[in-house]
Amino acid sequence: MAKMWGGRFKKGLDQDAQKLSYSLQYDAKLAKYDILVNKAHSRALYQAQVLTKSELQKINLFLTKLLKEVTDQKFDFSAHSEEDIHGLIESLVTDALGDLGKKMHTGKSRNDQVVTDLRLYLKEQIQVTLNHLDMVLKALYKLAQEHVHTIFPGCTHFQTAQPVVLAHHLLAYFEKFSRDKQRFLQAFESTDVCPLGSAALAGNNYGLDRELVAHELGFSKISANSMDAISDRDFVLEYTGAASICMTHLSRICEELVLWNSPLIDFIRIGDEFTTGSSIMPQKKNPDIAELIRGKSARIVGAHFSELHLLKSLPLTYNRDLQEDKEPLFDVVENLNMSLLCFAKMIKSLEFKKENIFKALQKGAILATEIADYLVKKGLPFRDAHEIVGQIVQVVEQKNIRLEEFALTEFQTYSPLFQKDIYEVLTYEGAVAAKDVYGGTAPQRVEEQLRSIKKKL
Ligand code: ARG
Repeated sequence: MAKMWGGRFKKGLDQDAQKLSYSLQYDAKLAKYDILVNKAHSRALYQAQVLTKSELQKINLFLTKLLKEVTDQKFDFSAHSEEDIHGLIESLVTDALGDLGKKMHTGKSRNDQVVTDLRLYLKEQIQVTLNHLDMVLKALYKLAQEHVHTIFPGCTHFQTAQPVVLAHHLLAYFEKFSRDKQRFLQAFESTDVCPLGSAALAGNNYGLDRELVAHELGFSKISANSMDAISDRDFVLEYTGAASICMTHLSRICEELVLWNSPLIDFIRIGDEFTTGSSIMPQKKNPDIAELIRGKSARIVGAHFSELHLLKSLPLTYNRDLQEDKEPLFDVVENLNMSLLCFAKMIKSLEFKKENIFKALQKGAILATEIADYLVKKGLPFRDAHEIVGQIVQVVEQKNIRLEEFALTEFQTYSPLFQKDIYEVLTYEGAVAAKDVYGGTAPQRVEEQLRSIKKKL
């Protein structure tokens, strides 16, 4: 078909330049939205008396048929070679309806069209992200519910630090993913703005009813400045930014799953459906899905960087650079949504090996801080208590015994404040129960958290 812009040129585009610039290959993903945009725009053209009723009906009939073909995945994009999806849709209408197809582009530009398409696409995809994120939140909540009384080695520096309940550890991620949810909801708000009517950059000459178009397309707001509308991709950054943070969270918990799944730690069993074998070592059960999700965080953060760099120093309004916004965004959407879905399913397949967790608790003098707090309660300043317990830990390590096994007479060589009741604080249950503050790991506090979460879910 003839180009959308051949008029002022003597020569066609160089073949290699064409390869560099044509985008149909990937922006075909926007076909559905481009058709919807053309429908809504045609309706506004009819209202503005640019199209007659029967012209509008013809366009609608054709676009509706085309939309069905596209959504049923019956349309063969590879058989076409237009510059981009907007050119393809227009040429299909023109091939079918002649001059009517050419009239359809009155009062709009590919500049407002492409960003409207992209916003429609992203709004739909954010809903998918939010659904999958809810699956993750529910799976974590459910697992946490089962482990309010499973005592677990809490770590700092990946060194045994203090006992916590496993539910508390899992709910820490629940909090992180809840914040992600807020960020995606905010990204949705920013995406839910209709730029159509802004035309090339300055607005259109036909008094098109922008509110009507926005309503037809399911947008709740219209853009306030045509130059901003054409050049704005902040909504993309908000999504890829939120996705980067969310993938970073996924990478952190997946890292823990990888470690916990290692025979060196052996705290969990991941369902067979989310692990793979080795082609050479028959004993292996590798946590590939957790590793891949951890790995995918890299490309998503990379894509976010691409989008940021794309916009940096770009003058108003449309510049062809903006065409490069699509592939990284599509990549983020696809990989984030897939990662969230697989992660939610994998979490449901987890089993914790309580015996091994209990054994691990007995290592690393995990109750040392409890002894310091005991001395503080008896009147010793915390720093002095810390020093004394440090010395005790050294001896206990040398003797290769647990703090609970240290004799009272030995304790008393370090401080006369030690009495028989020291053994009461030297229990894992006592240690967690003592963290009875809002946000702490005491089981009753964790249950309080679970109750408040349940209301939100
Ligand atoms: N394919 C283009 C893009 O994705 C559509 C807009 C082209 N506009 C233009 N003035 N060349 O950005």
